[in-house]
Amino acid sequence: VIHFTLDNCSIEIGNIENGSFQELVSSKYQNSKKIIIVDENTHDSCLEYLITTFPSLENAEVMLLPAGEENKVMEVCFQVWQALSEYNISRSDLIINLGGGLVTDVGGFIASVFKRGVSFIHIPTSLLGMVDASIGGKTGINLGSLKNELGVFNHPKAIFIDSRFLHTLPNQELINGFAEIIKHSLVAKKDLWDVLKTIDPAELLTYPDLTNLIAISSGIKIQIVDEDPLEKGIRKVLNFGHTIGHGIEGFCLNTDEPVAHGHAVALGMIAESYISYKLNLLSERELMEICLYISQLYEALFFNEEERKAIIQLISHDKKNSAGNVKMALLKGIGSSTWDVVVNEKLIFDSLIYVESVYQSN
Ligand SMILES: NC(=O)c1ccc[n+]([C@@H]2O[C@H](COP(=O)([O-])OP(=O)(O)OC[C@H]3O[C@@H](n4cnc5c(N)ncnc54)[C@H](O)[C@@H]3O)[C@@H](O)[C@H]2O)c1
Repeated sequence: VIHFTLDNCSIEIGNIENGSFQELVSSKYQNSKKIIIVDENTHDSCLEYLITTFPSLENAEVMLLPAGEENKVMEVCFQVWQALSEYNISRSDLIINLGGGLVTDVGGFIASVFKRGVSFIHIPTSLLGMVDASIGGKTGINLGSLKNELGVFNHPKAIFIDSRFLHTLPNQELINGFAEIIKHSLVAKKDLWDVLKTIDPAELLTYPDLTNLIAISSGIKIQIVDEDPLEKGIRKVLNFGHTIGHGIEGFCLNTDEPVAHGHAVALGMIAESYISYKLNLLSERELMEICLYISQLYEALFFNEEERKAIIQLISHDKKNSAGNVKMALLKGIGSSTWDVVVNEKLIFDSLIYVESVYQSN
């Protein structure tokens, strides 16, 4: 088991049966009530393993969230808060969030707000959850089409990352999570990028060094968050691909065809690589390398002019921007990055067109 610590949060990567989870639930929180928050899919695919492997969870209360990003809303939290209240949950009890980024974001938010903060831990079950969403203390929910508009910073007590849970994850979700690994390599680790180019994410589960790959990717996030927990500076580089990605994701949430977070971020990374190139931060050769790789893994989405304008509208609402300027994290070559670069709307508009042209020329 590989061990990291981030602001008093212990992070273990490897077989959960070999780490400190057993001791945590059977000794430290022995006399606490335990609540396991799952969504419909992790209820079916992950819960039984956890409860049968760790008998101290036998009497845990299970709370089910509806699956899907469209359910990352206040109404769902409200129902869980009412249930927690009915069960007389106190601050010394323990909430275990077992699921992907939806469950850890929403469950973390629920735990952080209830009685001003109940102890919670995360067991991420999606690849995106393992390398990204469960780490870094951001919790929250959406407000209409504004992503993560409500939330707080609050670290769980511990995070247990075990790749066993990935075996039931739909392939499409593996590929979504892979986008964050790509992002980590592009913003901070050229060697990782060179490794990724040799891996087919559709066959990730048979990759012999999977736990290590997850540890390298999550280690990048841990290191950056450790340096800048409240995102005043360098942590912003983790938003690479996300400014435009969130615009695409938020826009699609309101249409008949919602797009997965990782997919939107992948297209956002192409767009923001193009912007990096246009601002002379990235070479044309590197831009081509990035576009070729990402466009082979992620499908195109096409928008008309009105839709692009709507996406830009959402981007300028992004909470990371101030005073009407859109500030972005951009690449300074592959494996290096910078943040708070002011980008005008015209260039963002052009970058959306550029993304489509990448696919049309393939
Ligand atoms: N807090 C952060 O720092 C942070 C960072 C990145 C993303 N996020 C958030 O994370 C969310 C996306 O995370 P996600 O991609 O994990 O989404 P998700 O939690 O919705 O999971 C994707 C799908 O996979 C299913 N699933 C998860 N684990 C499974 C398993 N082991 N077996 C079978 N099915 C499984 C889920 O039920 C869901 O249908 C977004 O809401 C995003 O805003 C948060």
